[in-house]
Amino acid sequence: MASRVVNFGAGPSALPQSVLEEAAQGLLDFNGTGIGIAEISHRSKEFTSFITTLESHIRTQLDVPPTHSILFTQGGGSAQFSAIALNLLARHRLLYPQLSDDERVLDYVVTGSWSKKAAEEARRLGGGRVNIALDSRKYSKDGKSFDNIPPHSEYAFSNDPALIYYCENETVDGVEFSHDDTAPTAFPYHLVQKGGLLPLVADYSSSFMSRPIPHLAEHAVIFAGAQKNIGPAGLTILIVRQDCIVDVDAAAKLGATPVPLTMSYKTLFDSKSLYNTPSVLAIYIAGLVLARSSELGGLKYYEELNKRKAEKVYAVVLKGEEHGILQRKVQPGSASWMNAVFTVLGDGAEQRFLEGAEKEGMKGLKGHR
Ligand SMILES: Cc1ncc(COP(=O)(O)O)c(C=O)c1O
Repeated sequence: MASRVVNFGAGPSALPQSVLEEAAQGLLDFNGTGIGIAEISHRSKEFTSFITTLESHIRTQLDVPPTHSILFTQGGGSAQFSAIALNLLARHRLLYPQLSDDERVLDYVVTGSWSKKAAEEARRLGGGRVNIALDSRKYSKDGKSFDNIPPHSEYAFSNDPALIYYCENETVDGVEFSHDDTAPTAFPYHLVQKGGLLPLVADYSSSFMSRPIPHLAEHAVIFAGAQKNIGPAGLTILIVRQDCIVDVDAAAKLGATPVPLTMSYKTLFDSKSLYNTPSVLAIYIAGLVLARSSELGGLKYYEELNKRKAEKVYAVVLKGEEHGILQRKVQPGSASWMNAVFTVLGDGAEQRFLEGAEKEGMKGLKGHR
């Protein structure tokens, strides 16, 4: 086998070699069935038992309470930008049928390019009014970049919104909410907890299963594509509080935008995530990754490991800053553990840095423009 490099790609990302070797066997013979994983029926008892185990790994390792269902789908984070708005607007319509579309507000906290995109999709779909509860660019060093999580005093949430949306880790911009509730850069849960069931939505695409999720039980929906941390692209994981699994057709009769069946959380729930053929191979590899993670000690192990990795990387970047050769892009307290974003200073220096890294067997370091 050609030697493998250290792959820093944000997603698709590196997978453990032991998992890939096991998956190679599974491609030929899945769990002793004599049928390869890419060939076996998603309705076979062997596969349905596998998907149940995958679900239980997620539930156990993330400590997902029984109030929340774990669903699997396709279409990545981008499809969820649409699905979340549609499903939660349907829920809101059933709760408050008398409101006009303009009175139905969707609160978006925009701290990077992915939350911005999610808000744009909600605006495009209509059925409610998008309120940008926060745009962190206003508080950036240059007035136009996503480089910070602003203080709690800057958030402007609506009353009874259909959803409150944030992206925990902005992959492109390297901005992340702190997991320490006492930090000024933590998500302001205390500002949205007004009693009742909170329609809080979080995009965990780029940090899913890398450490525990704070306030998980208070979320209405948490979603993530598998391809950053736990498997190949093609699998999207949803953690949905049961009151958000609503009869979208009943809502449509009251005037809500109809929801395509493949995007309806109720369809996914009723069919145990097997309404249509799922990405069997992606589910298989994610299952192997999470079985390994469980053996290693689960998210406590990964939290500690990822903390140490981030500290090491940022220590080097800081040293580079002191020497005037590197520059952090993100303001202190808002920097991601997962995507450390920095600039290499000097004419042609970035290219030399990338070439030097490649000689050391490190690829995928070049970031977004
Ligand atoms: C934070 C975040 N959200 C959403 C997406 C979109 O995911 P997908 O490409 O699976 O649609 C990405 C992709 O990189 C992401 O990093």
